[in-house]
Amino acid sequence: MDALKRQAAARALEEVRSGMKLGLGTGSTAKHFVDLLGEKVRAGLKVVGVPTSEATRAQAEACGVPLTTLDDVDHLDLTIDGADEINPALDLIKGGGGALLREKIVANASDRMIVIADETKWVERLGRFPLPVEVIPFGLAATQRAMTEAFAKAGVSGQMVLRKAGAGDGHVFVTDGGHWIIDVRLGEIEDPPRLAGLLSAIPGVVEHGLFIGLGSTAILAGAQGIRVIQR
Ligand code: A5P
Repeated sequence: MDALKRQAAARALEEVRSGMKLGLGTGSTAKHFVDLLGEKVRAGLKVVGVPTSEATRAQAEACGVPLTTLDDVDHLDLTIDGADEINPALDLIKGGGGALLREKIVANASDRMIVIADETKWVERLGRFPLPVEVIPFGLAATQRAMTEAFAKAGVSGQMVLRKAGAGDGHVFVTDGGHWIIDVRLGEIEDPPRLAGLLSAIPGVVEHGLFIGLGSTAILAGAQGIRVIQR
């Protein structure tokens, strides 16, 4: 599986040109991309990157990829990131690694987003992977009640679990932004844009892992080779 992730990352690297401003994703697939990008940079490629997590920042710095911030550039040319699920509309579930907020801000600031994955991430309908929802700790119970109402309106029933940091140590997982994540088991989501809108309207929800209309291209690596899907 790891070899497939690296193949998808290598194919995405072919889309990178000198002078580009890049969004750098988070997760095991994006990690391959940053590795390979680092090799190119050391060989002379001129790019700057905006990392989507502290983990990616540390990796990019170690690889010698020059970094910038969204305050210092007016836009990004291209973001390359992984996903937990990808459907034929190239809508995504993201946030399995907990970086969904910065990932969405960076993808939204980018002209194009290439999603890289092994083919197991491709689904006809989103929802098998638990949907990560980033929330403010204050008023958690009220936010969860509002989420339950949103799920009912969207015709799904969501089983919510507050994400923990490690295996059984009891500590709540805290995002780079200082928030918590609720993972929601939904099953197939009939209308992802509608659910995305309902969740975004809840005050205690900072962001959710439904990425609607942000992916431009998916690069999927499988046993039969690489598939490139454009929106
Ligand atoms: C990080 O928060 C996520 O959105 C990742 O992009 C996603 O979980 C995919 O990760 P892998 O490439 O490790 O499967």
